[in-house]
Amino acid sequence: MDLKQEIERRRTFAIISHPDAGKTTLTEKLLLYGGAIQQAGSVKGKASARHAVSDWMELEKQRGISITSSVMQFEYEGYCINILDTPGHQDFSEDTYRTLMAADSAVMVIDAAKGIEPQTRKLFKVVAMRDIPIFTFINKLDRDARDSFDLLDQLEKEFGIGTYPMNWPIGSGVDFKGVYDRGNRRIIAFDEFHSGSQKLKAIECDLSDTETLDSLIGPYQRETLCEEIELLDGASFDFDLEKVRHGKLSPVFFGSALNNFGVEMFLENFLRMTTAPLARTAGDRIVDPFDPAFSAFVFKIQANMNKAHRDRIAFMRICSGKFERGTEYYHVQGGKPLKLAQPQQLMAQDRSIVDEAYAGDIIGVFDPGIFSIGDTVCASAKNQFAFEGIPTFAPEHFAAVSQVDTLKRKQFVKGMTQIAQEGAIQIFHEPSSGMDRVIVGVVGVLQFEVLEYRLRSEYGCEIRRHDLPYQYIRWVDNEEFSFRSLNLTSDTKWVQDLRGRNLLLFANEWNVRWAAEHNETLRLSEFSRA
Ligand code: G4P
Repeated sequence: MDLKQEIERRRTFAIISHPDAGKTTLTEKLLLYGGAIQQAGSVKGKASARHAVSDWMELEKQRGISITSSVMQFEYEGYCINILDTPGHQDFSEDTYRTLMAADSAVMVIDAAKGIEPQTRKLFKVVAMRDIPIFTFINKLDRDARDSFDLLDQLEKEFGIGTYPMNWPIGSGVDFKGVYDRGNRRIIAFDEFHSGSQKLKAIECDLSDTETLDSLIGPYQRETLCEEIELLDGASFDFDLEKVRHGKLSPVFFGSALNNFGVEMFLENFLRMTTAPLARTAGDRIVDPFDPAFSAFVFKIQANMNKAHRDRIAFMRICSGKFERGTEYYHVQGGKPLKLAQPQQLMAQDRSIVDEAYAGDIIGVFDPGIFSIGDTVCASAKNQFAFEGIPTFAPEHFAAVSQVDTLKRKQFVKGMTQIAQEGAIQIFHEPSSGMDRVIVGVVGVLQFEVLEYRLRSEYGCEIRRHDLPYQYIRWVDNEEFSFRSLNLTSDTKWVQDLRGRNLLLFANEWNVRWAAEHNETLRLSEFSRA
């Protein structure tokens, strides 16, 4: 296969959902189709979790959670598919957001009984920022579900996107009879527990074929289905592939991941509607993925994957050309040529060394402490460029942190700065106080524990943490900024980040709105462009 064919067959997407909606189950079924795993339960065996050897392990074991987010690659009908996992629960961190920067499309899994939940909301905002295609899988139709029209309505109203149901459920819970495939005008009957990559038999059946329909789903559900499809055909958005590709129209699939129902239909349509890796911008330049010259950017840095070596792994998304092990590339921000050491690809929790990889793929490379989030690696110094950086996302939990032993100040400052550079935490300080009173901001509360653990085990430094009541932070985009001249609620705090950018901390949403409404010229943003 030549370079063009290799790149053309790649699809790189992230799965987003609120915990428990069924992301892991869906991922697992997709992997089963690709033959990448042999049995369900391999992605997240709860009792027998096989994690990469890491310092985190103890912490992970204690908490029974997984901090590392992984990338899974598998083949299906000639396509090479990369799934980026976005961790949830308490291990939700900025990495979860950053991973979305490496994807070319997103799949949003929604629990049919619950509709949109908080974590879906947060992740959606980040996906929407990039205008990439968003597919919706409405899961758990084998359980009682909310009205399908209500679910679509919620997606359209809350997210401001159009929806296009590719199939339509026939009942839910104990009455779930299957789905109507709108494109092919046929019924796919639900028959519990389809295993592995077994294909489901569709029953060709026009909606006017009352007799067959009645024998399949009964007269009551037939009537409902016919009415609903008529309504849908009359009222819903027209299908428009261009809109899908720009994230303006989300194809919606109803199914049950656990029962492997609707997954195949989803996968085949997904592959048909998505494109090969997208071009990326680097200043004025558009980097074409098919350009043979290798380029990649770092979207995640994982420290201490291996306790014996105190190493860091930098995860890169390849944006153009082909990566070859042993070839010399150029690290733009470091201003130095380099060979990427121990390039690895991750399959669930297993890692293997890769000799070559292509645009669309993710590789993890050994990082001796030279990379930062957002860095670019390209083919040579002569033709260098830097990809647009990764935005910094607003943390939602804040704490004042100081060292217990004042003699350990040096270790404290070093540890805090390094961990912040890796992007695990963000640090702020009040404009007059420097590093004496550090305010730490995190996206997920577990990061506080990770911080305490790492400062103790790597820098020999115990810390004191005092949680702060702020929940919202906004970057101030105004060039000229005078805190005193603003009209703000008394509990709003002014802080600066490591680069000296101004930010405001708010205790609640009401205060954020107050600031916006009472200060016409103040420009606040939820994330900061790098
Ligand atoms: P997550 O990664 O989004 O957090 O969700 P996960 O796939 O772990 O699924 C959460 C729970 O929902 C699991 O049950 C899973 O079996 C169940 N589930 C997923 N898809 C479906 C579906 O289509 N129908 C039904 N009825 N359930 C579904 P659990 O009991 O929490 O875990 P487990 O012991 O089964 O692993």
